[in-house]
Amino acid sequence: MADNLELNGMERVGTLADLKIRNPLKAKVAGKTILVFQVGEELVATQARCPHAQGPLDEAELCGSILTCIWHGWSFDLNTGDCEEDPELKLKRFDVHLEGEQIFVRV
Ligand code: FES
Repeated sequence: MADNLELNGMERVGTLADLKIRNPLKAKVAGKTILVFQVGEELVATQARCPHAQGPLDEAELCGSILTCIWHGWSFDLNTGDCEEDPELKLKRFDVHLEGEQIFVRV
């Protein structure tokens, strides 16, 4: 693959090797800070701040696909974006694509 920073309107945010060093990977896409988590074999891209009260989700605890915010302990399923404590609240998830070792995200 060419070392393009874009792929079909998606922006490159890092590599699988980056994710091995730090899960989640934090990046900026179209001016927005986003996170990419490795959940088993899957990659999930989300907003970087908790939808409850803007807690830092890069510091949240990840157990399986459940992400628990450190500020008030609310939990989100990365596979669906669903919030356990408030069914009205959703964690934003973005398109993520793996091209070889390169990770691309569209917000
Ligand atoms: S800010 Fe995340 S649970 Fe309150």
